[in-house]
Amino acid sequence: MREEINILGIETSCDETAAAIVQNGRKILSNVVSTQIDIHKKFGGVVPEIASRAHLKIISQVIDESLEKANLKKDDLDAIAVTNGPGLVGALLVGVSYAKTLAFVLNKKLIAVNHISGHICANYLESDFEPPFICCVISGGHTNLIYVKGYDEFETLGQTRDDAVGEVYDKVARVLKLNYPGGPEIDKLAQTGNYNKIKFPQALLDNSFDFSFSGLKSHIINFVYKNQENIDEIKKDIAAGFQFAVGQVILKKTFAACELKSCKKIALAGGVSANSYLRKIFIEACEEENYKISIPKKDFCTDNAAMIASSGYFGLLKDKFADLDLNAVPNLKI
Ligand code: KG4
Ligand code: ZN
Repeated sequence: MREEINILGIETSCDETAAAIVQNGRKILSNVVSTQIDIHKKFGGVVPEIASRAHLKIISQVIDESLEKANLKKDDLDAIAVTNGPGLVGALLVGVSYAKTLAFVLNKKLIAVNHISGHICANYLESDFEPPFICCVISGGHTNLIYVKGYDEFETLGQTRDDAVGEVYDKVARVLKLNYPGGPEIDKLAQTGNYNKIKFPQALLDNSFDFSFSGLKSHIINFVYKNQENIDEIKKDIAAGFQFAVGQVILKKTFAACELKSCKKIALAGGVSANSYLRKIFIEACEEENYKISIPKKDFCTDNAAMIASSGYFGLLKDKFADLDLNAVPNLKI
C-alpha cells in the first residue's frame, strides 16, 4: 500500500452539505462545509424535504471545491467515504447516491461511514489522540456514551432515553426567544449569567449510563412561563443554570464510565461539544483527576466531512468496503 492514502469524505445527513479530503485519517487537505442554517432558521428547525433539495443543489460544487482546495484531481483519490446513517433519509440519500456514482465512474473503493463514528473520529483530526477512551457524543440528534476500544470497535454504554442534548439546547433557546440554532446562543448568553442562582434538576438515573433530558426541558419551559414578568432580567441566569445541570450530568456519567472501564482517557464529540462551558468543566476535571482529554476544534465538533473521511480511512485499513447497492439507513446504530 502507498504511504499516503487520500480519502474524500462526503456528509449530508442533516443540514450541512460537506466534503473534505483527509490524508491517512488525520491530516486535513481540505474541508468544505456549506450550511443550510439560514434556510431553516425561519422554521425554527430543520425541514427534511427542504434539506434534501438544498443538498442536491450544492453537492457538486462542494465536492469540486474540496478537490480544488486540496490541489488534487478526482483520480488522485484512494477511496470515497460517505455517511449512510443515522440521519434524515432524503438528505442521506443525496450523499450516498453521489458517492456511489463517483465510486462507479472513477472505479474507486466506497466506504460507508456511521455518522456517530464520524463524530468520534473528529478527535483524530490534526491530532495524535488514540483509542482506547470513553467518548461522550453530544449533538443535535444523539447523546451516546461510548467506550471506544479501537478505531472501529465501539461499545455503547448509555444513550438518551428521550431528547438529545442539542435538541434540548435548541428548545430551551426557543422558549427564551433566542435565535436558531440555540446552542451557540445559550453558550453566549450564559457567559453573562450566574451558574449558582437558579438550580435545575439533574436526572442521574442511578445505576444506568443512559441519559434523560426531557424532564429538565419541561421544567425549564414551565419556569420560563411562570416568570414572564422579569424574564429579560433572569434569562442569562436560566441559561447558566441550564448549562450547569446538563454539564454536571454529562461530566458525572462520563467519569463513572471511565471508572467502569478503568480508562483514564476522555473525548467529547458532536455539535454540543463546541460549548465553551462544557469544554471548560471537562478540561478542569481532567486536569484535577490527571486524565487525558481530547475535544475537537470547534469546527470539527459540528457536522463536517473531514471526520467522515477520517473514519473512512480506519475502515479502509480493515478492508471494510461497501458495494454499489449501499443504501441510506436513517436509524443506523453504531
Ligand atoms: O453535531 P451537529 O452539528 O449535528 C448533529 O449531528 O446533530 O450538532 C448540532 C447541535 C445543535 O443542536 C446545536 O444547537 C448544537 O449542536 N451546538 C451547540 C453549540 N454549537 C452547536 N450547543 C451548545 N453550545 C454550542 N456552542
Ligand atoms: Zn452530527
